[in-house]
Amino acid sequence: MRQPLVAGNWKMNGSLDSVKLLVDGIKGGLGSVTTAEMAVCPPYVYIPQVAGMIEGTGISLGAQDVNDQEAGAHTGEVAPAMLMDIGCRYAIVGHSERRSIYGENDEFTARKFAAARKAGLVPILCVGETLEEREQGITEQVVARQLDAVIGLEGIGAIGECVIAYEPVWAIGTGKTATPDQAQEVHAFIRGKLAGLDSGVADKVRILYGGSMNPGNAADLLAMADIDGGLIGGASLKPDDFLDIGRAGNA
Ligand code: PGA
Repeated sequence: MRQPLVAGNWKMNGSLDSVKLLVDGIKGGLGSVTTAEMAVCPPYVYIPQVAGMIEGTGISLGAQDVNDQEAGAHTGEVAPAMLMDIGCRYAIVGHSERRSIYGENDEFTARKFAAARKAGLVPILCVGETLEEREQGITEQVVARQLDAVIGLEGIGAIGECVIAYEPVWAIGTGKTATPDQAQEVHAFIRGKLAGLDSGVADKVRILYGGSMNPGNAADLLAMADIDGGLIGGASLKPDDFLDIGRAGNA
């Protein structure tokens, strides 16, 4: 039985005041989330603030990105060990905004994945196709290529110790969610591909859906056999919506 994970990706949003309100709001309703693990991924600068606020609550902490290097002359970057140091459990790698806006490719993403693991973080590896790729009918090839870059570098065993997030790029921040069947189809493809390499890993790994997940569609998505939670952008900035999605995972 895979415990659902509902992770909030706050992206580049927030202030000292709004972060306090948001985390207080989430903490206030946490008792009604009985099954899912809840996680938040604030912008780097607010991670210590959030770490202090969520101590002892069971909420997990993650970062939205991480560098592939351990330390040194990498102006503006944050190393995996620094994230461990301030209490992170997760680091998102390969988010489509990193790939498309900042030109990060599969190989760089795989190196980030490896560096995160080496430091003791659990990577949340994002994969997903653009609208153009879906229309060309190459969704599975794209997702397979993104996974293979990591499997090639780190081996299939490493996938058993990470979280995968399937995020169709056309659904992110657009209000256009994949239907539960559309999402399940790709999730089943991912799990099937992994099962071909190691069935234990395929059974164990949590595969989240991301892309305009909200309180109105979460229950139907989470009810699908291979959807083990959500990576939530916009709706994770509203405590009630984020908690609603968490409750949609109640057993
Ligand atoms: P969204 O973002 O929920 O706002 O679509 C999801 C994500 O980018 O992780």
